[in-house]
Amino acid sequence: MTAIEDWGSPASQFWLRGERPGEPVQHDESFGFWNVYGYPEAMRVLTDPATYSSDTTRIFPEGERFAEGNLVRMDPPEHDKLRKLVSHAFTPKVVAGLEPRIAELTGELLDAVDGTDRLELVADLAYPLPVIVIAELLGVPSSDRDLFKEWVDGMFTRDARMSLSDPTPEQRRELDEALAQVGHLTDYLGEHVAERRAHPRDDLLSKLVEAEVDGAKLTHDEVVNFANVLLIAGHITTTMLLGNTVLCLDAHPEQQARVRADRSALPGAIEESLRFLSPFAAIGRVTDTEVELGGQRIPAEQPLLVWVAAANRDPRRFPNPDVFDPTRDPNPQLGFGRGIHFCLGAPLARLEGKVALNSLLDRFPELATDPSDPPEFQPNPNMTGVRKLPLRTR
Ligand code: HEM
Repeated sequence: MTAIEDWGSPASQFWLRGERPGEPVQHDESFGFWNVYGYPEAMRVLTDPATYSSDTTRIFPEGERFAEGNLVRMDPPEHDKLRKLVSHAFTPKVVAGLEPRIAELTGELLDAVDGTDRLELVADLAYPLPVIVIAELLGVPSSDRDLFKEWVDGMFTRDARMSLSDPTPEQRRELDEALAQVGHLTDYLGEHVAERRAHPRDDLLSKLVEAEVDGAKLTHDEVVNFANVLLIAGHITTTMLLGNTVLCLDAHPEQQARVRADRSALPGAIEESLRFLSPFAAIGRVTDTEVELGGQRIPAEQPLLVWVAAANRDPRRFPNPDVFDPTRDPNPQLGFGRGIHFCLGAPLARLEGKVALNSLLDRFPELATDPSDPPEFQPNPNMTGVRKLPLRTR
């Protein structure tokens, strides 16, 4: 057992790169961003899409190629139409129907490491499980998951902060490399989408190809970019959620014992893990007009980073915010965002979390980190999570 704050320098990336926000809203002069740290301020931004646009391509034109059909980057009314169309694929009822398959996959993945006294949680379970589930839903071969991993890792290895006004040549090169990785995934999905247009099957890609919004079908690029978002959003965050929850339970053995003894406490532990270590730490927005937020006057067309990881520790909203307390009730954590862009995959992520963690607790009498083989953390500060988590299991 090791306290989360004790994992050496990478722990500074657990949330907010180890910094504590001084003010609820702060301007970062060197990068040209407005950081929103406070809970009420984050809520104001996330629930007012008319003032705080998700279309960041208006100031980052580099991403434009991948924007069409990218639900996360769309504003109303286009956002609402596409969201309505795809939301029936992710209703709690549809997702609940996936439980037997999620349990089966978890069993197969854990069978492969049975009989050993060690587990590398990310490689053995937390990465393959969500990526196989989302690939099967979309209808792309889950056996290509090593390719997805290579491309998606390539998108997020760099430090996402880049000076808007004056990027260095190195930052430009890193951004170009990241965009090239998105391009590989887009080309790959493009081939599958074209194939489904000719030969529809019973999968989500075919449904997207055939779906109509206001009597019009989605364009090729819209289908591809939306599938792209699902494939990326559908696994890396859930991988982090699984790793983070295990880390929290390792650092708080009394909570691990409680959850082991009473599994009805597990959903509360997952919610608290999303608050305590929010996988998707920062959400991007752009001001549409001049606004006043957290005592600051922000001009129009300014980029904001809404740090849900920090808002989730705002003492004005959460008593004892630095205490991991799975019994917190209510727990209005912002780990899945809020408002019209609230995570479409939240029911799926929660279900995968519940099934995977229950199986881990069932199979292994111990789940403990090993100080001689410490976890490795995501290098990208906008993400809170491990990319390697060696565990002792007995
Ligand atoms: C949106 C986090 C899992 C698909 C979001 C947003 C957050 C988030 C913070 C809001 C983004 C914004 O407001 O700009 C997470 C976390 C997850 C997770 C922490 C796991 C623990 C998933 C899964 C899927 C998914 C499994 C798909 C199967 C999406 C989509 C959106 C979204 C499509 C965009 C919704 C919209 O713009 O209307 N997610 N997500 N996410 N998420 Fe997730």
